[in-house]
Amino acid sequence: MSTVAVFGASGQTGRRIVERLAQHGKNVLAIGRRASTENAYPGVRSAVADLTRSTVSELEHTLEGVDTVVFAAAGDPIRVDRDGALRVIEAAESAAVNRFVLITGMGVGRTRPPELYGGFWDTYFGAKEASERALRASDLRWTILQPGELLNSPGTNRVQLAPTGTLPIGRITRDDVAGVVAAVLERDHAAGNTWELVEGRSTAAGAVDEALRG
Ligand SMILES: NC(=O)c1ccc[n+]([C@@H]2O[C@H](COP(=O)([O-])OP(=O)(O)OC[C@H]3O[C@@H](n4cnc5c(N)ncnc54)[C@H](OP(=O)(O)O)[C@@H]3O)[C@@H](O)[C@H]2O)c1
Repeated sequence: MSTVAVFGASGQTGRRIVERLAQHGKNVLAIGRRASTENAYPGVRSAVADLTRSTVSELEHTLEGVDTVVFAAAGDPIRVDRDGALRVIEAAESAAVNRFVLITGMGVGRTRPPELYGGFWDTYFGAKEASERALRASDLRWTILQPGELLNSPGTNRVQLAPTGTLPIGRITRDDVAGVVAAVLERDHAAGNTWELVEGRSTAAGAVDEALRG
């Protein structure tokens, strides 16, 4: 069975993605930066990679035999969100990974609300944008998800997906982001798309299908 590697597996969204994919019967490799991530999920294989330190060849080794990568890590915008993502993308290409789902954020590639400009925000969105550019330029079959503000409230399985810049800035639960990642991975033709993601009216699967129909 093919393996899905999840970077940021100890994170609030990452762990929901790991659990969701494992529930769907996927063979998951949970990758965290600390050894405490290891064996955190029953029946799920784990690996450790600090994205500020791991080299491309170390990451390539970690990704041996992996078919799909989900990148849900975030930390220092330059060292993790940008440079860490770039190294994972390069390693994924070298390791002959097929699919790659990158989670960035709503506000990349579009006008942001005034409070999301300046200082940290310019660095953060610039880093996310650089990771998106690198992924689009790669040979990987990519999907980029740009969620709005992430909530820890229980998922509703009511979401909306649309191309960058077409939705009002909004919010979405981390549970529902995990549901959308699972739906995207079940649809091979979801590759090549960048979608914003907020709460809405359709199920995760329905919203992906609607977005694919345009
Ligand atoms: N927060 C929001 O409202 C929001 C909105 C839109 C998009 N996003 C994006 O959505 C994604 C998920 O966000 P989240 O808030 O759920 O994430 P999170 O809880 O902050 O989790 C971040 C993950 O990245 C890992 N990480 C940090 N530094 C690392 C390093 N040096 N090496 C390897 N892994 C490292 C963390 O590991 P540790 O557990 O070891 O720290 C953790 O697993 C991120 O890409 C984020 O930028 C967030």
